[in-house]
Amino acid sequence: MRIYSRITGTGSHLPAKIMTNADLEKIVDTDDQWIQDRTGIKQRHVAVEGETTSTLGLEAAKKALKVAGITADDIDLLIVGTTTPDLIFPSTACLIQKGLGCSGITAMDVNAACSGSIYALGVADKFIQSGQHKRALVIGAETLTRMVDWTDRTTCVLFGDGASAIVLEASEEPGILSTHLHADGMNDHLLNATVGVSTGLKNEPNGGLKIRMKGSEVFKTAVMTLGRIVKETLKANDMKKTDIDWLIPHQANLRIITATAKKLSMSMDQVIVTVDKHGNTSAASVGLALDEAIKSGKVARGDVLLLEAFGGGFTWGSALIKY
Ligand code: COA
Repeated sequence: MRIYSRITGTGSHLPAKIMTNADLEKIVDTDDQWIQDRTGIKQRHVAVEGETTSTLGLEAAKKALKVAGITADDIDLLIVGTTTPDLIFPSTACLIQKGLGCSGITAMDVNAACSGSIYALGVADKFIQSGQHKRALVIGAETLTRMVDWTDRTTCVLFGDGASAIVLEASEEPGILSTHLHADGMNDHLLNATVGVSTGLKNEPNGGLKIRMKGSEVFKTAVMTLGRIVKETLKANDMKKTDIDWLIPHQANLRIITATAKKLSMSMDQVIVTVDKHGNTSAASVGLALDEAIKSGKVARGDVLLLEAFGGGFTWGSALIKY
């Protein structure tokens, strides 16, 4: 009998500080209208001193465990999707594990940039399907504003901070039906942050740590690639577009989301959109959208959900879920 991973709880946590488009107008040469028209973003949450990727992730994790009706002692796997870890090591997963007090379980970070949540979900699902793990906490957490170049209007308006968490439990009932994970390192020049341990920090503010992106090229690739993964996912499950109840996409740009919905012939009423409130929170974004969709009562048990994401690397992926 196949073992499925079933979602039994979700949670999210956003920093209290909000930065609106009007706030950005004071920092760079931009305007609210341009940002809303080109991205759909109205505001984003920004971590303040004392808030880190692990503190955000820990709060989201506690909420998800509470919803699932279990404690940290019940989980045996903790995976964090992040591209903005607190430290090089210990991993953010280990830091969150310390906060939860669940020593001894498997804990690791997965870095797949904006596809981090889908990658983390995919990895956790495989662990559960193997039969060796029964309950997983899958977290997507980011403090991207810590590596934004606040002088670059083409990128600084896009990103925000936040965390989301999903509890997965082994079940005979579906469940995650399939996950599809891909990467292509050939276009690394289009989206990157090029400092690190072995290449070294630069003699620049913030050690030279900043996101650089050729926006329109990334945009085109994202739209094309997401169209392909949607087809691949449906085909692998022998499903039609009309079998999907909800599209829960990575929240980078409303125009990318709309284009993907169009490819699925889905009305925007069946698409969860949070990019207006959160901006692009990278690995946290799909989980944040899922949590909001569940809490708002839109998504109901038994619905078929298509989660998808595209991000730096490039990486991309999808998860088809019977909720
Ligand atoms: N405010 C005002 N004008 C801006 C601006 C801003 N914040 N940012 C860019 N512009 C200007 C550009 O300088 C350019 O001006 P020019 O024509 O005089 O040179 C013009 O707006 C158009 O720029 P362009 O980059 O072609 O805009 P776009 O329609 O592609 O939108 C993005 C830019 C970044 C919003 C869009 O490309 C995007 O969302 N890309 C993908 C993001 C993404 O998915 N990331 C991936 C995964 S994390």
